[in-house]
Amino acid sequence: MLLDIDNLRVTFSTADGDVNAVNGVSFQLDQRETLAIVGESGSGKSQTAFALMGLLARNGRATGQVRFDGTDLLGLTPSKMNKVRSNQIGMIFQDPMTSLNPYIRISEQMAEVLTLHKGMSKKDAIAESIRMLDAVKIPDARNRIRSFPHEFSGGMRQRIMIAMSLLCRPRLLIADEPTTALDVTVQAQIMQLLADIRDDFGTAIILITHDLGVVAGFCDRTLVLYGGQIMEDGPTDPVFADPSHPYTKGLLRAVPRLDRDDDELLTIAGEPPDMSRLPQGCPFTARCAYVQNTCAHIPPELATFDGNRRRACHVPKSEVSA
Ligand SMILES: Nc1ncnc2c1ncn2[C@@H]1O[C@H](COP(=O)(O)OP(=O)(O)OP(=O)(O)O)[C@@H](O)[C@H]1O
Ligand code: SF4
Ligand SMILES: [Mg+2]
Repeated sequence: MLLDIDNLRVTFSTADGDVNAVNGVSFQLDQRETLAIVGESGSGKSQTAFALMGLLARNGRATGQVRFDGTDLLGLTPSKMNKVRSNQIGMIFQDPMTSLNPYIRISEQMAEVLTLHKGMSKKDAIAESIRMLDAVKIPDARNRIRSFPHEFSGGMRQRIMIAMSLLCRPRLLIADEPTTALDVTVQAQIMQLLADIRDDFGTAIILITHDLGVVAGFCDRTLVLYGGQIMEDGPTDPVFADPSHPYTKGLLRAVPRLDRDDDELLTIAGEPPDMSRLPQGCPFTARCAYVQNTCAHIPPELATFDGNRRRACHVPKSEVSA
């Protein structure tokens, strides 16, 4: 097993009190596995990733355990964590321009990663960078590598970010909304590229997205977050075909589908919860169509069923699926 997260909690101290962004998240990831973390805005997806990368904002603190290849990352010193980040875990974000320096040529930015972290000569580093740009299908990489970031389209910049994150051959790649800023055709190309990378490099991937449309067909497993807690997780196909949780059902109804009229698209009524005032019980209480008296007060346990699925809900699955 590559990653084993146990009871991860992330709390931010603010002037208005504590914000409980991640509340007891536990999951595991095998080598070469692809996991989607889905949920609405504010559900704790990015902070889960930032916590395991040691990249929380200053007012944030993480507790629990994040074992990566057997080592608890939360216990590492900043310099050791830095090493893991540079060599073992890559991360790409929604907007590549936030990670690329607009004033420095791609060649310099990529080569620096290898000279700094792998001790390569500049010449070897450039050669390897070109190889990696070829791998993410940047046309004419040998010449284009000398360009500045703004000389590429959004989709090309995202490819360059992916190439950069792969330079040190990470064992885990975390992609946080990597296609959200791109149009639908380019989104599909980037998802195909990530699939190729998983196959060619054997990289495990965590894909964070609010768009369930990109998950099916790409991710082995899907984990649904709400209020910083896991509502349901399991292999992607059964989770999509037969959702066991009221929240997952709501999310799936909001995904556009070709076999359905658009006016059947239903958003989930109500607002996501205030993370500084979560109910004692189930975080979905205020919006759930199946709510019962106990829901607001007693937290539902995340229980395993069908061998490899989990759900946290007081109402039996048979009643939710119906
Ligand atoms: N530095 C911070 N201080 C206080 N609260 C924070 C801080 N950073 C994040 N939060 C809060 O943590 C919660 C979870 O945020 P997170 O970024 O994980 O959401 P997300 O699921 O990634 O949403 P999105 O889809 O919008 O990216 C939110 O309520 C957010 O406001
Ligand atoms: S525990 Fe209650 S509020 Fe939460 S999802 Fe289940 S039925 Fe809805
Ligand atoms: Mg986010």
